[in-house]
Amino acid sequence: MAPFNAPQPTFEAPDRSPAQSASSVGPNGRRPIETVSVVGLGYVGLPTAALLASRGLKVIGVDLKAEAVARINEGRAHIAEPDLDMILSAVVQAGRLEACSSPKPADAFLIAVPTPINRDKKADMRAVESALASVAPVLKRGDLIVIESTSPVGTTERAAAQLRRLRPDLTFPDHAPEQSDILVAYCPERILPGQTLRELVDNARIIGGLDHASALRAREVYAHFAMGQMMLATSREAECAKLAENAFRDVNIAYANELSILCEGMGVDPWAVIRMANLHPRVNILSPGPGVGGHCIPIDPWFLHQAMPEETPLIAAARSVNDGKPQRVANRVQKLAKRFREPAIAVLGLAYKPNVDDLRESPAVEIARILADRHVGRLLVAEPNIARLPDELAGRPDVALVDCAAAVAEADLVVILVAHSKFRMIDRAALASRVVVDTVGLLQPDAN
Ligand SMILES: NC(=O)c1ccc[n+]([C@@H]2O[C@H](COP(=O)([O-])OP(=O)(O)OC[C@H]3O[C@@H](n4cnc5c(N)ncnc54)[C@H](O)[C@@H]3O)[C@@H](O)[C@H]2O)c1
Repeated sequence: MAPFNAPQPTFEAPDRSPAQSASSVGPNGRRPIETVSVVGLGYVGLPTAALLASRGLKVIGVDLKAEAVARINEGRAHIAEPDLDMILSAVVQAGRLEACSSPKPADAFLIAVPTPINRDKKADMRAVESALASVAPVLKRGDLIVIESTSPVGTTERAAAQLRRLRPDLTFPDHAPEQSDILVAYCPERILPGQTLRELVDNARIIGGLDHASALRAREVYAHFAMGQMMLATSREAECAKLAENAFRDVNIAYANELSILCEGMGVDPWAVIRMANLHPRVNILSPGPGVGGHCIPIDPWFLHQAMPEETPLIAAARSVNDGKPQRVANRVQKLAKRFREPAIAVLGLAYKPNVDDLRESPAVEIARILADRHVGRLLVAEPNIARLPDELAGRPDVALVDCAAAVAEADLVVILVAHSKFRMIDRAALASRVVVDTVGLLQPDAN
């Protein structure tokens, strides 16, 4: 691909109404974008689809999960995200958002499907490839494809090559820059689950085009709702920036985790040390925890590492430190549990971060699973955001899902794994007579 070399200006989203947006003429005299298809209606795709529809566009959501499609068409979200149900029910009722199981024609397609890693830590891009293959038959001249899924560098170029094989009748920007039939861009997502809707609107965005025309066209889509800065880039730059962000987070969390292990080994309170060190004007050590979870930070750094394994020992070491943390927490709990003949252990939290229901790659689930496998004691699991235990823990006679107060009341040992707001109400007097392992600093004086 020939990257566009002209210096790319940053762009402030214009403050304009949906009516104005819909009637504007796109760059290069292209028709205005009226219909957007969002392929993959999960934590990223569904809120994006709902927001686009709320700004007056016609939105066609596509997902392979029949259950999710049916639920969305009833105006109800199949994921937990504050305020999402409210917007969704309004746009579905107004006929602006419909969900279906295979793509229909649209002016723009946003691909937001999962990009996990395989056992060998290489990116599993099958969902992106199959989403592109499903979109190919309905593509028409002038359409835009945007990949939002976090992806290895070079993915957008490979996407254009895949689409060209499937649609030899159309031209793509890597072969016909600035004059292709189809425009192709990469726009990574940075949302914080639990605050997705606000962040979709407020966050700065990187819009990486396979050519400049693609970047401009993608910016046109996001300008319908995004108020943050929009920085135009090449697709490779945008892919790499997203991975760089998450590797940065992983490395910094790994430092906090390594420091906490070191402090505990030396008999020093890690929270006090970090509080004091952070008084330095140029130091900001992050909070340690039980490990790193979710769909992003434990996975995305591998996409960078795999590009040049020999040159990225720091990224690999951070992954190893953070991946090793659940095992260490479990070992510590097991050791403390030996003080009791038949220990009852309150496990507070299973989600990978506070105030969400998302258990993907959660270190808390991993810790509970290790403790259950080792039969360390009776596990009283409190996770206020789920209705039933995940597969790793369900059906085990010595694991029960209970509410937080009941778990603490019955426990000999309390292990705090997630700083859910609801856990802040824990009866401190009840904790005083129990052995407590607070992996997230919930009980620290400055925890808010
Ligand atoms: N969740 C986040 O906070 C977050 C933040 C930034 C980036 N991302 C990235 O965004 C992408 C999507 O993440 P997510 O959390 O929304 O995933 P998700 O699992 O919540 O949702 C993905 C959806 O895509 C559907 N899907 C899979 N293959 C499909 C196909 N071929 N056609 C149609 N639908 C298909 C799945 O059924 C699922 O509902 C990933 O690459 C992720 O790394 C996620």
